Amino acid sequence: MSHIYASFRSIGAYVPKKILSNADLEKMVDTTDEWIVKRTGIKKRHIAAQDEYTSDMAAKASALALERSGISTDEIDLVLCATVTPDYFNMPSTACVISDKLGIKDVQAFDISAACSGFVYLLSIARAFIESGMKKNVLIVGAEKFSSIVDYTDRSTCILFGDGAGAAVISATDNPKEAIIDIHASADGAYADFLVTPAPGSINPASQKVIDEGLQYVQMKGNETFKLAVKTLTKDVKEILEKNRINAEDILHFIPHQANYRIIKAVGDALKMKEEQVVLTVGKYGNTSAASIPMAINDIWESGRLQTGELMLLDTFGGGLTWASALLPFAGKSK
Ligand code: UT7
Repeated sequence: MSHIYASFRSIGAYVPKKILSNADLEKMVDTTDEWIVKRTGIKKRHIAAQDEYTSDMAAKASALALERSGISTDEIDLVLCATVTPDYFNMPSTACVISDKLGIKDVQAFDISAACSGFVYLLSIARAFIESGMKKNVLIVGAEKFSSIVDYTDRSTCILFGDGAGAAVISATDNPKEAIIDIHASADGAYADFLVTPAPGSINPASQKVIDEGLQYVQMKGNETFKLAVKTLTKDVKEILEKNRINAEDILHFIPHQANYRIIKAVGDALKMKEEQVVLTVGKYGNTSAASIPMAINDIWESGRLQTGELMLLDTFGGGLTWASALLPFAGKSK
């Protein structure tokens, strides 16, 4: 029997209509467009409508990914969603809601919580299910309504985050050229307090105190996270390239988590990447957490930059702390 590999078949994304610009934020908190652009590279971010939920954005991104994969909903046998802003805390899972919205019936569906690293974590789970022969076609979605956990009076976080969703279909193949090459995914809970939403949870169940103290909002030790992100990502991407004997100049698309232009630039420079290798969407979407990498892949696919067989290097870092990198060819059809 030939070996079963997992391949990245298609990509889709959804961005909500409403734009929150730096000029808008200048009217809300003590900040300036100049500070935000200089420190983060972010110019604007998209914000979901009040009655537009994480599962709505996820279902729209998924519908596109499914259409572009040529695989029907009947053939999907696993639905996975990565999000820290699920429709519900914490039941039903957003993956169950997405499956229902897409008409995918009677298949396993669940969410994972790995913050910004969620999409690459899902890639590793989908790959394991496929290569073990348990599943054939897995729908993976990174989706966030991050605006639902942002305190728009806190200038240190509200300028960073945006909403959106990105989805991909991962399928079994017997062609080794289409196979996901390698994935590193890791975590260190010793840094759990770097990025936290303190409530609701078993430590701080919903209460008046939670609301009064704003514990439902994301809190971040920005500068500490920044420094650790640069160090960890640089080490991680160097390791995955060395292990697989691939030179950084052979990577056509370096697709990092879009948290801060300065982090991306520092890692790209350490790898001696050229500007045209590095995919940048942080300027227009801000940090969309688990959605950021698939939204960035979708951007290069839609602009015709991502062709069949081209090598991608993904890398990400987020709350947990979690981090992950992946090396893989794009095994879908070009636009
Ligand atoms: O996606 C998950 C992973 N997340 C990340 O990787 C995010 C990592 N962190 C970052 O991107 C950066 O740390 C930030 C953009 C959040 C902050 O940039 P920084 O260069 O680390 O600034 P800082 O936190 O050290 O703050 C410098 C100064 C402070 O003022 P003082 O204490 O020097 O007077 C802040 O109060 O900038 C001030 N500041 C602001 N000023 C204007 C913080 N936020 C703002 C703001 N506008 N929005």
